[in-house]
Parts: sequence; C-alpha cells; structure tokens
Amino acid sequence: MDACNSGLRSFNRQVAKSVVEIAQANQLSTIIELGAGRAPVTAELVKHEDAAGLRLVTCDLVPNVEAYQKIAQQYPDKVFPIYSPVDLTQPQVALNDSVLVLAGMMHHIPFELRPAVLQTISETNSRAAIFEPLLRTWRSIFFATLSFFPAILLPITFFRRPGKLRRFLWCWIIPIVPYMFVWDGITSCLRQWTRAEWQEAFDNLENPPKVEYQQGFNSLRIFWGGTGNGSKKPIR
Ligand SMILES: C[S@@+](CC[C@H](N)C(=O)[O-])C[C@H]1O[C@@H](n2cnc3c(N)ncnc32)[C@H](O)[C@@H]1O
Repeated sequence: MDACNSGLRSFNRQVAKSVVEIAQANQLSTIIELGAGRAPVTAELVKHEDAAGLRLVTCDLVPNVEAYQKIAQQYPDKVFPIYSPVDLTQPQVALNDSVLVLAGMMHHIPFELRPAVLQTISETNSRAAIFEPLLRTWRSIFFATLSFFPAILLPITFFRRPGKLRRFLWCWIIPIVPYMFVWDGITSCLRQWTRAEWQEAFDNLENPPKVEYQQGFNSLRIFWGGTGNGSKKPIR
C-alpha cells in the first residue's frame, strides 16, 4: 500500500497538502491521522514546510506502536501518537479542535459500521476529510490489476529496506505477493461507496452536516465539519 500510495502515486503527498490547507483555512493547529496504520500521511506532513508549526497526532484501532515510536523519536516536537486503541465506531472526545484525516481507511470499515464512524466524527467540532485512493468503477478495477507490476518489482525498488530475503521469496521464488496485491486492489474497489451512498449515510445521521465531494480520476475526497460543540465530556 505504501509502495503504491507514497511511491508510484503521490496520493499521500496530495492528502498531506490538502489537510494542511484545511488546517490553515480553519486556524486549527492539530492534524489527527485516524486509522493511521503505518501513518503515511503524517510521514508526509513532517516534511511539509507549511506544516512546521502543526501538532501531528497518529492513532488507530490497532496502533502500530513500532512505526509511531520511530516517527515520534525522529520528530519529538511535532508528532504525538496515541498509543492506546482509538475505535472510531465509539465516541472519542480526543478528536475535538482538529483536522481529522481518514486516508485510505474507510473501505476497511464494514459497511454497517460506517454510519457509526461518520456519527463519531460529526459529533466533534473538528473539520474532517476522507480520502479514498480508489473508486468502485471498472476503470479503478483495471488500475488495481496493474498493481501486479509494482509488486513484482518490490525486491528491486525496496532493495535498501530490511526484509530483502522475504521479498525475494514471496515476490519472485513463490510469487504470491503480486496476486495478493491484485486481489486486495480489486476487493478495495468493490468495498468503496459511491458519492450517492456516502450522501445517504450522511443524510441519516442525527444532525446531518453539509458535505463537499471532489471526485478525481481514480479517487474520492469528502470534506465536512463536525456539528459538535467541542465538549470535553463524552458525548454519548
Ligand atoms: C489499510 S489500513 C490503512 C492505513 C493507512 N491509513 C494507510 O493509508 O496506509 C486501515 C486501518 O484502519 C484501521 N481501522 C479499522 N477499523 C477501525 C476502527 N473502527 N477505528 C479506527 N481504526 C480502524 C485498521 O486498524 C487499519 O490500520
């Protein structure tokens, strides 16, 4: 995923640029990467000159402690991970007064839990943005199948990274990784919601926010503002 979204595509760089603009436009000094995984957006933000004064927070349902510690040690004045699980299907008071970034993660949330995630975020007083790197279209599925090629090149492109022997084994000798990339790409496309499906979910929230959509060639961006009052007490 990192190889595709931070290497071949500039997806994570574009996300970082966009959320810095949101922070500046709304005078918010904290950006929180939700469902961060290895925190690829934060890894872009720390290099972004316009993000210099911002506080960057990473969190996840299953925090990647090793990745968080690494980036927090490198940028102790900028990156402040949450090492305990942050489940977005539950109210989260720590998410107020911030820009909330959900990049490439919503298609991993089961359909029936997505409304709970939208509700949790909409109950904050933060600005929120979902960035999905794929669409549920034939074109997107076609591009997903092309991920076979970067996968087969991983032993070369990631030659300097640890885990070299593992990559030679699973990409070339027993080449299951390229097929796993294709499978993951196609299922990720099929798990995407269309703009109309997102809007229906927003319309069904207790207090539906005004939502803005930007659909790209192979991506979807969704922007909205929470309607909560920023109370420090649990909302539900
Ligand atoms: C494919 S990873 C995406 C990680 C990262 N955003 C990226 O682009 O590499 C999806 C992440 O969503 C997280 N996740 C799934 N359900 C969640 C939930 N209910 N609350 C918070 N995070 C969740 C998973 O733990 C996982 O790290």
